[in-house]
Amino acid sequence: MSTTISPLRMARLARAAASRGGPAGVLRCAVTGKRGRMFDVRMLILGGTRFLGYAVLEAALWAGWDATSFSRGVSGLPPSGARVVLGDRLDRRALAQLADDGPWDAVVDTSGFVPRDVLMACEYLRPVSTQYVFISSVSVYRGWPKEPLSESSEVLYCPPDAGPDYGEDVEDGPTKYGYQKSGCELAVTSSFGVENSTILRPGVVLGPREYVGRLPWWLGRVARGGRVLAPGDPSRSIQPIDVRDLADFVLPAISQSATGTYNIAAPQKRETFGDLLRACADVTGSAPEFIWVPDGKLLDTGIRQWSELPLWRTYPGVWQVDSTAAQTRGLSCRGLADTVADTWAWMQSSGTELNDQRAQEIGINPDLEKRILGLLTDT
Ligand SMILES: NC(=O)c1ccc[n+]([C@@H]2O[C@H](COP(=O)([O-])OP(=O)(O)OC[C@H]3O[C@@H](n4cnc5c(N)ncnc54)[C@H](OP(=O)(O)O)[C@@H]3O)[C@@H](O)[C@H]2O)c1
Repeated sequence: MSTTISPLRMARLARAAASRGGPAGVLRCAVTGKRGRMFDVRMLILGGTRFLGYAVLEAALWAGWDATSFSRGVSGLPPSGARVVLGDRLDRRALAQLADDGPWDAVVDTSGFVPRDVLMACEYLRPVSTQYVFISSVSVYRGWPKEPLSESSEVLYCPPDAGPDYGEDVEDGPTKYGYQKSGCELAVTSSFGVENSTILRPGVVLGPREYVGRLPWWLGRVARGGRVLAPGDPSRSIQPIDVRDLADFVLPAISQSATGTYNIAAPQKRETFGDLLRACADVTGSAPEFIWVPDGKLLDTGIRQWSELPLWRTYPGVWQVDSTAAQTRGLSCRGLADTVADTWAWMQSSGTELNDQRAQEIGINPDLEKRILGLLTDT
């Protein structure tokens, strides 16, 4: 039976559950609903406490849905108003107990990375759920990041029951992550059937709570001011999607039973890298001097694309993701300046420390930046 407890006590219980380790089963609790109204849609999210899942929950709660978050309680709490079930998706007992809380109109899976784990979740949730929305990635395409992509582009093959070792990282080509996500997609469609599956393939996702740290790094760098190494061409088109726009797309995908596969990216050729850095300067109130260094010169320095200078990648396919199918079904993308402003506001209000391992790999060392700028501009 569910119990109503305070968020503080829930956090303590979560820590206790996490510290037990092993097959701890499920700790169930419910946060007091803010609205106290009847709910039309019952949604379960496998995840919901960090970034995209959190945004999906916020959107669902805003819409008055009955929304449940299932997570281990390791990385924080979902938004207030969500039901909370604590457990590990790799634990069969936890999944069996979770299934007892059904039925759901839809499961949204933001935490699936290994095909056989997704298959196992489907095994328990298929009898109690109508639709499965899986958050995949454009990395499933064989041509990413070199070629323009549409939903009909070739996809990497990975069996639906593959373990975490399947696939390989190829220099500037397919990644193990991409193979694995592709196998996860097959796990979902083979279990729920394509007619009950919604596969969303986002490109780069930015916005408040972004723990990977790409936009937060640029904001922090631009806020420091001075001579900023700006990569490539300021007119290079980019198309990151705001996490809240992606979340808002999940809701009609459920309420309108929009099954199928959709690329999720902002419209092509709408905004540029120059727009991004200008927006960072505007919101931080900084007056940096952007030194735009052409791709070729930067590549010669050996700087790592994508990580040392986040969002900079020279292959033409990176920002040529066709998302017209999703736009036709209602995907609406706010301007990049709004994403930048709201991410900065979140950074200011939360005093965010980006301690995720991926965030540690983001950004160029300030001494190296200075050295490179000196080398490239003093000659
Ligand atoms: N960021 C991007 O640019 C980008 C681009 C393309 C695709 N994507 C995809 O978008 C998704 C990102 O999701 P997010 O991290 O933002 O979602 P999220 O739902 O906000 O956070 C991940 C959730 O998964 C839970 N979780 C992790 N391992 C678990 C386990 N073994 N059992 C139960 N719960 C578990 C975490 O909680 P606990 O740790 O407390 O368990 C957390 O609630 C990923 O699927 C990613 O591949 C992201």
